[in-house]
Amino acid sequence: MPEFSISRAANPLRGTLCVPADKSITHRALMLAPLLHGETRIENFLDSETTRATLNCMRAMGADIQEIDATALHVKGRGLYSLREPHETLWCRGSGTTIRLLAGLCAGQHFLSVLDGTPALKRRPMGRIVEPLKQMGATILARDNDRFPPLVFRGGNLRGIEYALPIASAQVKSAILLAGLFADSPTTIHEPSPSRDHTERLLRALGVPVENLSPTTVCVHPRQFKIQNSKFKIPADFSSAAFFIVAALLVKNSQARLENVGLNPGRIGLLDALTRMGAEFHIENQREENGEPLGDMVVSSVDLRATDVGGSDVPRMIDEFPIFAIAATQAQGETRVRDAQELRVKESDRIATLSSELRKMGAQIEEQEDGFVIAGPTKLRGARVNAHNDHRLAMSLAVAGLIAEGETIIEGWECVADSFPNFGGLLRAAKS
Ligand code: S3P
Repeated sequence: MPEFSISRAANPLRGTLCVPADKSITHRALMLAPLLHGETRIENFLDSETTRATLNCMRAMGADIQEIDATALHVKGRGLYSLREPHETLWCRGSGTTIRLLAGLCAGQHFLSVLDGTPALKRRPMGRIVEPLKQMGATILARDNDRFPPLVFRGGNLRGIEYALPIASAQVKSAILLAGLFADSPTTIHEPSPSRDHTERLLRALGVPVENLSPTTVCVHPRQFKIQNSKFKIPADFSSAAFFIVAALLVKNSQARLENVGLNPGRIGLLDALTRMGAEFHIENQREENGEPLGDMVVSSVDLRATDVGGSDVPRMIDEFPIFAIAATQAQGETRVRDAQELRVKESDRIATLSSELRKMGAQIEEQEDGFVIAGPTKLRGARVNAHNDHRLAMSLAVAGLIAEGETIIEGWECVADSFPNFGGLLRAAKS
């Protein structure tokens, strides 16, 4: 199993860093561009294990997606009803976004489709999408009382529904929105608190009426896409930038500039939490491209103090808790995270895996049912730790290695390819 070893940063992090394209937006662009009437050039797509899974599944349903070079794709869209029955199981690898969003598309198709993935994906809960999609009229079967993959679909003839999500989840919301494109009437979704709205923004940019009835209520109107050729550029992934944001905050005398970073309001809760802890962020060149806000960010090292995170902060930084925990180990006081039970059903049980691995490095972390408490600041020490097949845990532990005494070895490093294949190289270059 590949390992990654990293030692304490001898020098500050300086200079400009370019992190890869947004994973969430790449998945959505790959699913929607084939349904347009016309040709789409997707620039700066994320080429990673999980987005390849979506690309292959869309191709298996007949989508015409050509790779122009390492960063650009050309898609020939043949319309909303152009997908066809795949000959084989749609293999989603370990990607929750692939299986849940594709479930929305498959629910709208009259043909039979089967979605499945790795053993880790087979443990991720699917009842949350199966229930609303069944309410819309799709026939769906899933393992263990319709709760886990594989998912088997015979869709079509959907009706619009009004649905209140039990948890704030962009994946569930997006699955219903995508199914809503194929329904006979509008679909309205209520969320307990706002989550990332990339699907809504992309649909709007493509001319599909999506209304925000309130900050937590969205309504999609089924509509054929208009005929158009479009060009679409994907911003850098805020969740990938987050590792370097925290690294620059923690390694003394650092100043890093991160360019073209996506700043979707549903993604940047980490900035709010770190600001409460004393960090300052300078955002330059703020703009909007294809309906998504982005900008260049300058981050400098600082002494942090503890904060509390809970409630509506949680969905806005749902992928950043592993790296946030590293920051918390260096903050003065007790940092408490609550209302974050969802962390237990991510790529790993992030509350348990973060606690066990950070303890090996000397952190004082107490696991709670819905979060954790970290007492800081602590001097971390290098250790042999395990990524638990979780890309965000792996990269967070590597950032911890930058400030730990001695060498940190991360086992199971190959999972970083899920979202950030060249992370190790970029981190080593930034510290040298
Ligand atoms: C995602 C939504 C989040 C996030 C995941 C990507 C998306 O999941 O954790 O990495 O692209 O919509 P949930 O919707 O389950 O919170």
